[in-house]
Amino acid sequence: MDRSADTLVSQLFRRKPHAMLMAEAESDAGGLKRALGALDLTLLGIGAIVGAGIFVMTGVGALRAGPALVLSFVLAGTACAMAALCYAEFATMIPVAGSAYSYSYATMGELVGWIIGWDLVLEYAVGAAAVASGWSGYFRVILEGVGVHLPDALTHAPGSIPGGIIDLPALIIVLLVSAVLYVGISESARLNAIIVVIKLAAVGVVIAVGAFFVRPADWVPFAPHGWSGISSGAAYIFFAYIGFDAVSTAAEEVVEPSRDLPIGILGSLLVCTILYIAVAAVLTGMVPYSSIDQSAPLASAFVTRGLNFVAGIISVGAVAGLTSVLLVLLLGQSRIFFAVSRDGLLPEAFSRVHPRFRTPYIPTTITGILVGLTAALLPIQDIAELTNIGTLFAFILVCLGIWVLRRIDPDTPRPFRTPLVPAVPLLGAGFCLYLITGLDPITWVRFFGWLAIGLVIYFAYGRHHSRVAQNATAGRAAASSAD
Ligand code: ALA
Repeated sequence: MDRSADTLVSQLFRRKPHAMLMAEAESDAGGLKRALGALDLTLLGIGAIVGAGIFVMTGVGALRAGPALVLSFVLAGTACAMAALCYAEFATMIPVAGSAYSYSYATMGELVGWIIGWDLVLEYAVGAAAVASGWSGYFRVILEGVGVHLPDALTHAPGSIPGGIIDLPALIIVLLVSAVLYVGISESARLNAIIVVIKLAAVGVVIAVGAFFVRPADWVPFAPHGWSGISSGAAYIFFAYIGFDAVSTAAEEVVEPSRDLPIGILGSLLVCTILYIAVAAVLTGMVPYSSIDQSAPLASAFVTRGLNFVAGIISVGAVAGLTSVLLVLLLGQSRIFFAVSRDGLLPEAFSRVHPRFRTPYIPTTITGILVGLTAALLPIQDIAELTNIGTLFAFILVCLGIWVLRRIDPDTPRPFRTPLVPAVPLLGAGFCLYLITGLDPITWVRFFGWLAIGLVIYFAYGRHHSRVAQNATAGRAAASSAD
């Protein structure tokens, strides 16, 4: 291999040193504000998790799995639990803002790190755009309920319905939430906490009131489409679980990361898994699975049984719920841009911290505008499955990364240790891969197209600006001048 090819290969696989990561995480000067505790993190996790997945997508999930939707939730929840254990180890070992991007950079090198950073845009930014569009749908239902009808042309993106021009409610909510994120992490956490209480109350109403309206006859046949229905249902409603990992993107804003991050990640996932299984059982027991509404399944189930008032409460809870999902997904995206830019793989402006608010205000603004316009102008619901594949791919690399790091770097302190390594990470990666196979093949094609765009950007920009590469070159130059 000639020398330049040799240098290229060594750069692509050069890992970011743990000491460099920790120095960034521990530096307080001019950095992000450390204001979050275990409860804030658990609420942030629930804030990100309970949203479109449970309030909207359970309808399609039920159509695929039938009453066995309960098992789809168990299957997807199991994959997430294993990934969550791996996230908890990484998040306490490398408590920095970039989440899976930073973990992959540290374990598998710059190229894999960049690919994951780019892939996470699907989870956070595309996910946020899909949620904003779902928000607009529920918002319309509430307005209709009080007799207000907005023109269809201004509440639908082009291509989503004939005559749609722009989805203004989606654009406005994204910009409002971004404004809160701009002014501060503490303000954002407080708003999130209030919303979480409202949406948990709505989910509680679904379970507690719905339980009285269950007709066990609707649970038969239990799995009308067999195992394939259960697993494709799981691949689809996996969206409902996305978000517990977003807790790790706030690692640099946590007061005591080694204690609080595992509580936030695992606690939020546990609470939501229990709620989801209960909701799935109630929903499929209230309405025959083949008649469950596809756009607002929970609220409609109560309308079907004559409980319009309860349906109204659920719709308000859904709008609140989708707002906090947006908040945490937008927060996660801006922190990932921040971390990638700090490594030089994106322009330096993305890692500037606001002097007064101590937030990454430039990526927050850019993310808000891009996500808002995407939700307003593209038929985003069609590509929401991309969010699932992007997230599952990140989970697989995080699981494998735990195993790799245990082998190549066994001595670095790990405040939280994933149990039963390598069984848990390997099973976690296997489960996630299995869920990917349940997604539509067109989603795989789009996903590879997205990664190809990312590679072009890396070779055109990131590779030439990488700070880790520059440090290595400077180190070599210093060593040879000392000789
Ligand atoms: N889990 C989040 C939701 O369901 C992304 O909206």
